[in-house]
Amino acid sequence: DLPSRVKIVEVGPRDGLQNEANVSLSDKIQLIDMLSATGLTHIESGSFVSPKWVPQMADSSEVFQRIHRAPGIVYSALTPNARGVDLAIAAGADEIAIFASASEGFSQKNINCSIAQSLVRFEPVLLRAREHQLRVRGYLSCVTDCPYDGQTTPEQVANVARLLYQMGCYEVSLGDTVGKATPLRFARMLDACLSHIPADALAVHCHNTWGQALTNIYQALLMGISTVDASVAGLGGCPYAPGASGNVATEDVVYLCEQSGISTGIDLMKLAQAGEFICKQLGKPPASNTALALLTG
Ligand code: HMG
Ligand code: MG
Repeated sequence: DLPSRVKIVEVGPRDGLQNEANVSLSDKIQLIDMLSATGLTHIESGSFVSPKWVPQMADSSEVFQRIHRAPGIVYSALTPNARGVDLAIAAGADEIAIFASASEGFSQKNINCSIAQSLVRFEPVLLRAREHQLRVRGYLSCVTDCPYDGQTTPEQVANVARLLYQMGCYEVSLGDTVGKATPLRFARMLDACLSHIPADALAVHCHNTWGQALTNIYQALLMGISTVDASVAGLGGCPYAPGASGNVATEDVVYLCEQSGISTGIDLMKLAQAGEFICKQLGKPPASNTALALLTG
């Protein structure tokens, strides 16, 4: 059965803009402020990672300090280590997210350590977060395919997802980092995770490289998952996942849900306008069929 309501975690300002050079601080702030007026309740607004690894996110402290926070919205940040959490707390992030990989190759390339080492590194992160009463989300990358190791097995994914959940992540977001998954393999992976983690503690995070994101999301909704990560205008990609394109466009997810009787609480036109704004700054059209149909139709 489909859920009656879906929560969308907007990751455009982070997953989207981490992949774009030369986005000004004021454009980042304006994008987040426009997103804050759409009805979204969760906006991942930056990341506190090494600026040597991802220079695009080096101004996240300023972003958090200068956005106009709307009541009821969680503004979250990615934090790979204890240093990142301290910076996130100082900047006023409402929630943090740690990020692990289901495959060893991507773990090494993205965070420079093995899966096991990353889990050890996350312990002090969770401890610090708990001291500050911050909730922690756990991302798990490469849930069906890894750009370095090939296909990932459902058992590999379920194992690391279970560990993240047991460590204290309130939610595990299952990432198809390279956007290669198709519904059958995606469902097998979800089945394996659902045998350890309740559906309401799982989210899906689909990149759209091969055009399958929306179908995989629909599959997840049919299996009882009701939290979906998405990126306005389909922005995004990971600097350490070569060839991967952006996340599923938030506009496309909202249209799919609302037309299927699933409420999202989001104003589609305002959302498309936020996407149009940032795309104008980036000098490219939105990677969202819904946005294009709405804005040019
Ligand atoms: P490292 O080089 O092994 O660690 O990087 P280090 O501790 O030696 O740090 C290197 C330098 O960075 C040092 O500076 C540190 O001080 C500094 P130096 O001494 O050389 O001048 N540093 C920091 N600076 C600011 N904030 C920090 C911080 N930590 C260290 N928090 C590390 C290890 C994890 C830090 C690095 O690999 C890193 O930052 N990786 C992040 C990569 C990243 O952001 N990738 C994109 C996000 S993940 C993603 O997109 C996937 C997702 O969307 C889900 C999906 O799609 O699958 C979430
Ligand atoms: Mg991603």
